[in-house]
Amino acid sequence: TYVIAQPCVDVKDKSCIEECPVDCIYEGRRMLYIHPDECVDCGACEPVCPVEAVFYEDDLPPDWTDYGPANADVFATLGSPGGAAGAEPLTDDHPLIDRLGPAGR
Ligand code: F3S
Ligand code: F3S
Repeated sequence: TYVIAQPCVDVKDKSCIEECPVDCIYEGRRMLYIHPDECVDCGACEPVCPVEAVFYEDDLPPDWTDYGPANADVFATLGSPGGAAGAEPLTDDHPLIDRLGPAGR
């Protein structure tokens, strides 16, 4: 699966949403998350992100490997809605994000 990492925090450009053919990128309070079970690994979201926040999970920079599990964990209670358009925005971010300061660092 592809994963969204720290550069998205407090940026939320959302160009990635426009590209995703299966609508599996979900909005949280401070960043967006890719549903690992719904992503079909098409890779279309990666090059369009202006802050280079999107990575294939195996290519995550060492400082951001926690974002792999973090993207998955936010869907633990939500399950698999089968598309972000019909789902409510996530009300909480992953605790990893909550620990970041206002500048996302
Ligand atoms: Fe975030 Fe980049 Fe998408 S900033 S919302 S991952 S285009
Ligand atoms: Fe969508 Fe990106 Fe996966 S465009 S299918 S989230 S690789």
